Amino acid sequence: MIGRERMTVASQRLIAERTYELTLSGRLVQEMKQPGQFVHVKAAASADPLLRRPLSLCHIDHKQGQCTIIYRQEGKGTALLTQKQPGDVVDVLGPLGNGFPLEAAPAGGRALLVGGGIGVPPLYELAKQLTKRGVEVVSVLGFQTKAAVFYEQEFASFGETYVATDDGSYGTAGRVTDVIEARSLEFDVLYACGPKPMLRALAERFPNRPVYLSLEERMGCGVGACFACVCHVPGSETAYKKVCSDGPVFRAGEVVL
Ligand SMILES: Cc1cc2nc3c(=O)[nH]c(=O)nc-3n(C[C@H](O)[C@H](O)[C@H](O)COP(=O)(O)OP(=O)(O)OC[C@H]3O[C@@H](n4cnc5c(N)ncnc54)[C@H](O)[C@@H]3O)c2cc1C
Ligand code: FES
Repeated sequence: MIGRERMTVASQRLIAERTYELTLSGRLVQEMKQPGQFVHVKAAASADPLLRRPLSLCHIDHKQGQCTIIYRQEGKGTALLTQKQPGDVVDVLGPLGNGFPLEAAPAGGRALLVGGGIGVPPLYELAKQLTKRGVEVVSVLGFQTKAAVFYEQEFASFGETYVATDDGSYGTAGRVTDVIEARSLEFDVLYACGPKPMLRALAERFPNRPVYLSLEERMGCGVGACFACVCHVPGSETAYKKVCSDGPVFRAGEVVL
């Protein structure tokens, strides 16, 4: 069930260039279940910035009553979040959206997880839950440069993990699709989150395969009321889907990328 809570900051640390790992405690964690869902965070108690910022759930820990999000400092909202200290409160609405379908991956099968930059965080909870279900997980993580890389070891604890950087300063030089081709990575289902060009490349590279893509569209309300996040449906000029409430995860081909 969607709820709203002033959650307490348990910890916050810088884990890569402009990238922070923020752990929050609260009752709302018990409602968080599906990897790929997100929370809508109010960055400041004041009216500015007015809008909440959508951030993916990276790790859900029901026992500790804590959830972790990883975010990159981009503008005003995320800059304000970096100032939060343990014990501070953060106004959180969630969990929102429809996440990655776990049942698309057969037990004993192999899932390929492909993340780009700030699209990497939701794949961590996904890797955890797939592994629990007996699915083999292979991860390919793309970043701009070495200083931006995070969670390589954390993903490696679930299975084979490859890193690519655009500038070649770490791992394979090039894109995530270069790694997939070079290593001839096979899969039963592919899950991805990252910038649209990356998602488009994956959808085009693997047509007619089970490919699930999480879109990080700009959002307003986050709950299906404002139309800020609409995406067109292929073959129609009038039909659309809302990323916040129909997604953010869609099967490739379901929306125009
Ligand atoms: C479902 C969903 C999940 C997301 N999960 C994460 C996450 O786990 N970690 C993370 O770091 N970010 C995530 N994002 C993106 C994040 O919401 C934005 O980076 C954030 O809202 C920027 O807020 P700001 O106030 O700091 O920047 P703003 O001042 O609003 O914008 C600053 C700059 O960031 C760009 N920007 C803003 N929103 C987006 C966006 N959605 N995609 C690309 N560029 C954007 C703007 O164009 C501008 O250049 C997610 C977005 C969605 C929709
Ligand atoms: S953000 Fe308002 S409808 Fe999606």
